[in-house]
Amino acid sequence: MSVAISNKLSCLLVPSTNVVVFTGAGVSAESGVPTFRGIDGLWNEFNVQELATPQAFASNPVRVWEWYLWRMELISKVDPNAGHRVISWMESFFSEFTLITQNVDGLHDRAGNRHIFKLHGDLWEVRCVRCSKTAKLLTLPPHPLPPACECGGLLRPGVVWFGEMLPEREFSQSVAATEHCQLFFSVGTSAEVYPAAQLPIIAKEKGAYVVEINIERSAFACRADEVLCGKAGEVLPLIQHRCTVPF
Ligand code: APR
Repeated sequence: MSVAISNKLSCLLVPSTNVVVFTGAGVSAESGVPTFRGIDGLWNEFNVQELATPQAFASNPVRVWEWYLWRMELISKVDPNAGHRVISWMESFFSEFTLITQNVDGLHDRAGNRHIFKLHGDLWEVRCVRCSKTAKLLTLPPHPLPPACECGGLLRPGVVWFGEMLPEREFSQSVAATEHCQLFFSVGTSAEVYPAAQLPIIAKEKGAYVVEINIERSAFACRADEVLCGKAGEVLPLIQHRCTVPF
């Protein structure tokens, strides 16, 4: 794996740097979790309008739950990869560190990150559509689908669907962290879905050094200060190594 890390980036890889890492589905690809876009993307195979919108759930909650159950079963059989582990290590290495993810798979939690802004929710949470009670799932939801709340209402996956607002606290604090960081990593995201995709743009506008890590150039790449083309699970360990050797 040969990726050239610039001198400018190397100089920023010290504990005193305020760092934000922003991740998308690509960071979980090497764990075996399908991404949404690109060659084997889920949206090439499945119809997002039938599976990931409030309207889809209202018209056919069982179909929506069957799809999310399929994803939960798949994710329950995989593990965090080297990229997740480096991002967990970063949380303790950098004096000020913020992890913002679009992913709902829970692999950053399992890799050891303790403070995560989850912009698109969490696959392992459910929320009642009637009383809004939320609950953490420790196992796969019981049949029959859709699962029901104690109040009798339907439980929905605790994820943000297309057409829904992002959780206000998570997003506003993500923007605040992005506005104040010195180094912003955009890892494994196509940077196509807003408002999350606004974050690397805000980082750049506010003067952070913005680095993209991706196997191909994203919609944001032309605005990045540095593009490290490669797999997250291979590039991030190189960055960790550069953090630990005197430059
Ligand atoms: N390492 C780094 N990047 C990778 C890897 C890898 N091993 N494998 C794939 N990628 C890149 C792809 O090149 C692509 O740019 O990851 C990106 C994945 O893009 P998407 O599938 O669009 O995922 P994401 O950007 O997270 O999508 C944002 O869209 O469908 C919604 O809610 C869903 O949170 C998701 C949002």
